[in-house]
Amino acid sequence: MSEAINYQDRPWMDPDAEPFIKVQSVSKFFGDFTAVDSVDLEIYKGELFSLLGGSGCGKTTLLRMLAGFENPSTGNIFIDGVNMNGVPPYERPVNMMFQSYALFPHMTVESNVAYGLKRDNLGASDIAQKVEEVLEMVELTRFRKRKPHQLSGGQKQRVALARALVKQPKVLLLDEPLGALDKRLREQAQFELMNLQDQLGVTFVVVTHDQEEAMTLSTRIAIMDNGRFMQIGTPTEIYEFPESRLVANFIGNANMFEGRIIENGPDHVIVQSKQPECLFYIDHGLSIQEGSKVWVALRPEKITVTKESTASGSNNTLKGMVHGIGYLGGHSTYRVKAGDTLIEITSPNQSRPKDGNPPIDWDEEVHLSWEASSSVVLTR
Ligand SMILES: Nc1ncnc2c1ncn2[C@@H]1O[C@H](COP(=O)(O)OP(=O)(O)OP(=O)(O)O)[C@@H](O)[C@H]1O
Ligand SMILES: [Mg+2]
Repeated sequence: MSEAINYQDRPWMDPDAEPFIKVQSVSKFFGDFTAVDSVDLEIYKGELFSLLGGSGCGKTTLLRMLAGFENPSTGNIFIDGVNMNGVPPYERPVNMMFQSYALFPHMTVESNVAYGLKRDNLGASDIAQKVEEVLEMVELTRFRKRKPHQLSGGQKQRVALARALVKQPKVLLLDEPLGALDKRLREQAQFELMNLQDQLGVTFVVVTHDQEEAMTLSTRIAIMDNGRFMQIGTPTEIYEFPESRLVANFIGNANMFEGRIIENGPDHVIVQSKQPECLFYIDHGLSIQEGSKVWVALRPEKITVTKESTASGSNNTLKGMVHGIGYLGGHSTYRVKAGDTLIEITSPNQSRPKDGNPPIDWDEEVHLSWEASSSVVLTR
């Protein structure tokens, strides 16, 4: 008997799971401009799904269509099995936290949070209780009587979050929720957001243009460009298995080498790059024709830099000159020039240098090497 697979943390892998949000060939045109271009998307209950992409790529527009503030020009959106076509925002099981928090400046924290409940004609004691609960959750109880201008950026952000959460939506749409926070607060807020999501089991769709944030927060990420999805996957899939140069460059850094497939075996591929001259041996087969033009993407942390050559053959190795070093404490970045190409390498500083001198210095000749499994071959 085969053991049942547990899909709890990755419902998108479960062939029997029904997506909670289903976006089917949705486009949005503004006049003759296409803001969202025929996208398909399935998001499952309890996911923290991120839409990631540069400014103007259509993230907010897609979110506004999920919320019901904008109608799709073509296609359908289903939430919890119901077609949302023509359903107004307040009748959808979703709530949206806007890019600018849009708090009412003349109202206290408490009244800002209670606003939506009052509009639903809830009883006063009911409202008071819900507001109290949610303020506690986001740790704002002490500030309940303050007005927005008396709060820090992080506190304002938590008011906006409380206001979106208090109505207990099944889906929370967050547009750049942490955009106004500085780096340290942001990191703290990211973990708070993940905790909240864990506690409440709400499905989150988060828009961001901060790649680190998306990597930290998400169950899955959709990379968007020009109104289209370039790739959808877990943070690991997107980082380690990018399907295009655009995605490889968008998430993290990648050294990109143009080359041709000169050998294509069942269990390996060899790519020859001319600039710099190098042979990439890749330890798995690919369904790409011999002779095809490809790009090899190699992440900076996958490259080892040494003074002595450690390579046993001529594959997966390069010789170069140190052109720059950035010492960042925990790790260092090296820029190594091989031929006319600058290659970026990041390397952890595991041991303390004995005499305080760096182990590798500027203008030194160095050897670069990487494993056969480290290169990603891309055709677009
Ligand atoms: N009401 C509108 N009328 C015309 N064009 C619009 C309208 N709303 C958005 N757009 C255009 O659609 C494109 C996508 O806008 P959108 O707000 O979705 O981008 P975004 O990905 O959220 O960007 P950002 O990261 O800057 O917030 C932009 O080029 C924008 O100018
Ligand atoms: Mg936006």
